[in-house]
Amino acid sequence: MKVFKTVKDLGDLNVAVKEALEVKKNRFAYKALGENKTLLAVFFNSSLRTRLSTQKAAMNLGMNVIVLDVNQGAWRLETERGVVMDGDKTEHILEAIPVMGSYCDIIGVRSFAQFENKQDDYNEKILNQFIQYSGRPVFSMEGATTHPLQAFADLITIEEFKTKARPKVVLSWAPHPKALPQAVPNSFADFMNEADVDFVITHPEGYELDPQFVRGAKVEYNQNKAFEGADFIYAKNWSAFEDAHYGQILSKDRSWTVDTAKMQLTNDAFFMHCLPVRRNMIVTDEVIESPKSIVIQEAANREISCEVVLKRMLSEL
Ligand code: CP
Repeated sequence: MKVFKTVKDLGDLNVAVKEALEVKKNRFAYKALGENKTLLAVFFNSSLRTRLSTQKAAMNLGMNVIVLDVNQGAWRLETERGVVMDGDKTEHILEAIPVMGSYCDIIGVRSFAQFENKQDDYNEKILNQFIQYSGRPVFSMEGATTHPLQAFADLITIEEFKTKARPKVVLSWAPHPKALPQAVPNSFADFMNEADVDFVITHPEGYELDPQFVRGAKVEYNQNKAFEGADFIYAKNWSAFEDAHYGQILSKDRSWTVDTAKMQLTNDAFFMHCLPVRRNMIVTDEVIESPKSIVIQEAANREISCEVVLKRMLSEL
């Protein structure tokens, strides 16, 4: 594996999940693979889970790890070609990326949507420059449009907790005070559409996601109806995708907050969220603290999803 951005990069999803469950049983079995190999984890944005789980996965595989917070201590990077660099940006990304590549064997990149130019975001301008110019295998630690390590961990978690062959999984929009990217719901849809689940997306009108990720999924605008019979509720906020309101908040309607009454409409569903979560905006204290909340197990599986990706990349170096 040279690139990890979408579900397609994993190949057969059943094989990938099986491999993840095997890795989880003995996460140090492949320690020799990463000996004398270095992971560079580059963060343009904040992180708790991705930062820790990626380092832990690399250490499980015997790798050395360098973490770079681009906005804290590195030179400010210019990303546009042709710009006269007479401002406050000291280094061009076109030199910085191959330099970073020269110090490592694999690169992980976190670079969120900037909401300044939809085309730049949906072309994954920063992540794709790392793929093009680093000379190294590159994986997304959440790009502008996808968060595949999260969605892979989500699928592993659903596989572990499901009690029927084909569970009903509902991705529900929920309110948030800030405009958030669509990366997590895009990737969740991307993975669920390939998994053996009955997948439903529910959100207020105007929050339609990119059709390339929604594909054949059922979209239900009535949240209560969507929740009926669900086995897994996956809550997440996202901002508008459509051109006229790209990156904007269209609603903060707290009637979409996942609460106990809504969970009672389900088939005693598990509650999932990628974290960090705004309590009593996205989900009530009662639901996230209930025995059906599996957000911690879900976060723990981030170590496993990353270890599978790194293991596959190391195998092909
Ligand atoms: N879910 C997730 O990616 O968490 P962090 O933003 O803390 O890495």
